Amino acid sequence: MNKKTILVTGGAGYIGSHTIIELIENTNYNIVSVDNFSNSSHKTFDRIEKITGKRIKNYAIDLCDASEVEKLFTSEKDITGIIHFAAFKSVSESVAEPYKYHHNNIASLLNILEACLKHNISNFIFSSSCSVYGNIEKLPVKEDSKLGKAESPYAFTKQAGEEIIKDYARAFPKLNTVALRYFNPVGAHTSGLIGEDPINKPSNLVPVITKTAIGKIPEMTVYGKDYPTRDGTCIRDYIHVTDVAIAHIKALEYILNGKQKSNFSIFNLGSGDGVSVLEAINAFEKVSGEKLNYKLGDKRPGDVISIYSDTSYSEKELGWKTKFSLDEMMETAWKWELEQKKEERS
Ligand code: NAD
Ligand code: WQD
Repeated sequence: MNKKTILVTGGAGYIGSHTIIELIENTNYNIVSVDNFSNSSHKTFDRIEKITGKRIKNYAIDLCDASEVEKLFTSEKDITGIIHFAAFKSVSESVAEPYKYHHNNIASLLNILEACLKHNISNFIFSSSCSVYGNIEKLPVKEDSKLGKAESPYAFTKQAGEEIIKDYARAFPKLNTVALRYFNPVGAHTSGLIGEDPINKPSNLVPVITKTAIGKIPEMTVYGKDYPTRDGTCIRDYIHVTDVAIAHIKALEYILNGKQKSNFSIFNLGSGDGVSVLEAINAFEKVSGEKLNYKLGDKRPGDVISIYSDTSYSEKELGWKTKFSLDEMMETAWKWELEQKKEERS
């Protein structure tokens, strides 16, 4: 009998690639990826192979193209579950180019959900985001916290994505769906051989830190120094990408083993710890031994002051909690930055 297949959309991307590694190393599924490399490199699959010894089959198609999606599902007959990572994810770009985000993130989701119905695939996991909470005052945020207004088109696509999935789950009771709301995924695989490698210019804190330390960015700015927080800088819930990856395996087991309370569940994926920008920088300096060239600058428009997750529901229901510390997040991110430098030289 053929092995059951898990289809990973966005498998060449940052979180998708780390999840594929964990799936290969911890499960017995056949893994197939679909990624058009719109924000990732072809090298990802070489890197996965170097770490795991396995070559992953990838369909380089645009998930917004319904006829290509149909061809994929017609060829892959043993798909038992889908982890849907593929989306555009830059908050600032989404503000500048709303159509790009509304179209890509929603059309691809609808095509995949329609394919689930047509091909009787009943297990679906969606990459959502803490950005769905908007500017929320009561911390830590819980899955049933009332969502604030979406602060960007990107965040709106995640709120809308959850609503669309909820509608499908209501209309089709055999479809088991989970939305995982990631907080701030950072760091890299412990081997240092794979990590975040976006085509777009980095704007997230940790890649900016490592690129400053390696000299690719001359000086970085800490956005805001007089927020009402313990050191005046914003607070976030950073989570190691491998912890995020492992949570997907837990979520898969949860739905495949029939443990869901209803056929649409939401879980926060965070560590539960709020970390300030300066604390993150200090952790980086400590583990890398590098002195970071940074200045305290103006606030970045749209930043929430503080957000971190209540982790009790995902701990209780999924039996999952984070294992990696902030130091390990920084250490692996730095190892990956050094590895990229080595790759560029060779
Ligand atoms: P990423 O950009 O590294 O990976 C996404 C992948 O999807 C890319 O490889 C891209 O080429 C592919 N893709 C995008 N649109 C596609 C399409 N139409 N057809 C085929 N492939 C397509 O991003 P990531 O950080 O790995 O994020 C994965 C998911 O998690 C996204 O849905 C993102 O919104 C969500 N998320 C990410 C973060 C984060 O901080 N990284 C936080 C919360 C949620
Ligand atoms: C973290 C902190 C910045 C860069 C975004 C999305 C969210 C989710 C995760 C997708 C903030 C500060 C940053 C710099 C800085 N992604 N910072 N200097 O904005 O919390 O979340 O990514 O779903 O939806 O909104 O992440 O890494 O950009 O910023 O001081 O050069 O670091 O102000 O306080 P953010 P981030």
